[in-house]
Amino acid sequence: MHPMLTIAVKAARRAGSIINQASKNLDLLTVSKKSHSDYVSEVDGAAEAAIIKVLQAAYPGHAILAEESGQQGDHENSEYQWIIDPLDGTTNFLHGFPKYSVSIALKHKGVLTHAVVYDPNLNELFTASRGGGAFLNDRRIRVSKRTKLDDCLIGTGLPFRDLTHIDAYFAMLKDLVPRIAGIRRPGSAALDLAYVACGRYDGFWEIGLAPWDMAAGCLLITEAGGLVGDLEGNETQLESGQIVAGNPRVFGHLLQVIAPHLTPALIEAHRAAKS
Ligand code: IPD
Ligand code: CA
Ligand code: CA
Repeated sequence: MHPMLTIAVKAARRAGSIINQASKNLDLLTVSKKSHSDYVSEVDGAAEAAIIKVLQAAYPGHAILAEESGQQGDHENSEYQWIIDPLDGTTNFLHGFPKYSVSIALKHKGVLTHAVVYDPNLNELFTASRGGGAFLNDRRIRVSKRTKLDDCLIGTGLPFRDLTHIDAYFAMLKDLVPRIAGIRRPGSAALDLAYVACGRYDGFWEIGLAPWDMAAGCLLITEAGGLVGDLEGNETQLESGQIVAGNPRVFGHLLQVIAPHLTPALIEAHRAAKS
């Protein structure tokens, strides 16, 4: 394992044990609301602080983008940027619904290089390094081989905070559901993307994600032989927040189903992300 990935794994496991410990006493947590349907607990902050401590001890010069504390370090000049979601699926966590994860990615010169998504409930550690493949614990993972949409299990996330694209999203969902084997919305986008990487899902899409929800999952998928892009298939997902992923065939099928429902506002979001 590359030393930088080893450090990321150490940080993710630290965060995981803080989350596991706190999950035993959910009633004791102080929860606050960042905005509509956007809850945060002290666990998010404690997990993030633990991750940043591990990363900064090893790599003090690296820049950091983390969900709760924002940007740290010299983003202009540092070649390295860590992108962190300390607890992806906070709403699930607060409800004792065991689908949440820790997500840590590293970009080098703007290119995703290392990725960790950790599920502390199942002790499932998903890792990838550019050019080195993707792994679940110590086992190599690959995207699924299904080619017919009819047989596919597709993951998604519903718009629930920013409702700008809700009509377009539900038009896509309505069109897709009769064509596939099943749909899932567990509520941790980072874990959803890891599930595409290991073939549990054949594809996934969501509108309105943040870079920390997606960065690690994107590298897991491409290293597992899958494809990932925005709703038009271009690589703006980290900037536009709109993502489609899947094995190569299913990625293409999903883009075809989505295309008739793209609105000027969605297309504009892709354009803005490119420029
Ligand atoms: C959320 C989860 C969820 C997705 C939301 C995200 P958070 O992250 O990934 O699956 O649908 O859009 O914001 O807020 O729990 O870290
Ligand atoms: Ca998140
Ligand atoms: Ca989070």
